[in-house]
Amino acid sequence: MCDKRLCSCRQKSAASNVDPEILRKLEEGYKLLKNSDSPSLLKKYLTRDVFDKLKKRKTSYGSTLLHVIQSGVENLDSGIGIYAPDPEAYTVFAELFDPIIEDYHGGFGPDDIHPLPDWGKPADMGNLDPSGNYVISTRVRTGRSLAGYPFNPSMSETHYYEIENKVTDAFGKLEDDLKGQYYPLVGMEKDVQKKLIDDHFLFKEGDRFLQSAEACKYWPTGRGIYLNQSKTFLVWCNEEDHLRIISMQEGGDLGEVYARLVRAVTALERNLKFSRNERIGYLNFCPTNLGSAVRASVHVKLPKLSANLGRFEEIAGMYNLQVHRNRNTPELCVRLNMLPVLRT
Ligand code: ARG
Repeated sequence: MCDKRLCSCRQKSAASNVDPEILRKLEEGYKLLKNSDSPSLLKKYLTRDVFDKLKKRKTSYGSTLLHVIQSGVENLDSGIGIYAPDPEAYTVFAELFDPIIEDYHGGFGPDDIHPLPDWGKPADMGNLDPSGNYVISTRVRTGRSLAGYPFNPSMSETHYYEIENKVTDAFGKLEDDLKGQYYPLVGMEKDVQKKLIDDHFLFKEGDRFLQSAEACKYWPTGRGIYLNQSKTFLVWCNEEDHLRIISMQEGGDLGEVYARLVRAVTALERNLKFSRNERIGYLNFCPTNLGSAVRASVHVKLPKLSANLGRFEEIAGMYNLQVHRNRNTPELCVRLNMLPVLRT
């Protein structure tokens, strides 16, 4: 039977529908990118051949190659440079997504299959720093999208409202320590917003990569944050992804932080259907957030390693970790980030 999303006759029949103005912008963007010294994976893998194959394709949500590449074209300093405007984009534009996914996710090839969801045993994670001398805080987050909806650039204002309504209904069913309150951005007092941002709970507006990707349309409609009472569990609604589910607390008890995330995602999943592809796992807006889309980080004080940041970054890289220098604190603190990876 013909799989509607993948069928090439469907892609061809949509071919003539790509607006000439979009084709013009695509050609212009392609030239700009190719004449630049952009370090992005987009520049590396968007060959003329791939470009010509994809430039007239459209998904059933109406997304084009321009939606995919516009952020990387406008921000030549991007590391990746592409976003998926909807779940189908990963297959309709596979000739571009696959090599970028393979490069970023440690060799995950086009025939590899991410395993079925398995949270493992959170209790086995334990405490990373029982002495309490090094780890200031621990955070584990994941991204989830609601099945049946496109992602930011192809979302209508109604989609933003609908998603917000569905997730707030699901928040209302959370129990025990996950119970809390949803704060929509619409109508939020400026001082409340500032405090939530300063305390590192809320996202900011205006990320230039997201803006060029058309991910900030109708702002602040449909955006908001859910917080439990102790502020150890939060969910961002309609920022980069439909849902960013976050568990965090002071200290290094990764077991407790991760267990809370697992409980929360499992509870939300009882009332929401998440978008998942059997090959690349949970689907989100950015191809860096596929598979489990789980990213763990610690805010840590390591004065000796931090004294030579170059060397520290080299060592961290060997363990698939990213180092972010924290400039807001007087001590030498860094955030160590474990990257989400697709596994085979
Ligand atoms: N689009 C940006 C780049 O390519 C950010 C990618 C990763 N970060 C993210 N928030 N998805 O460099």
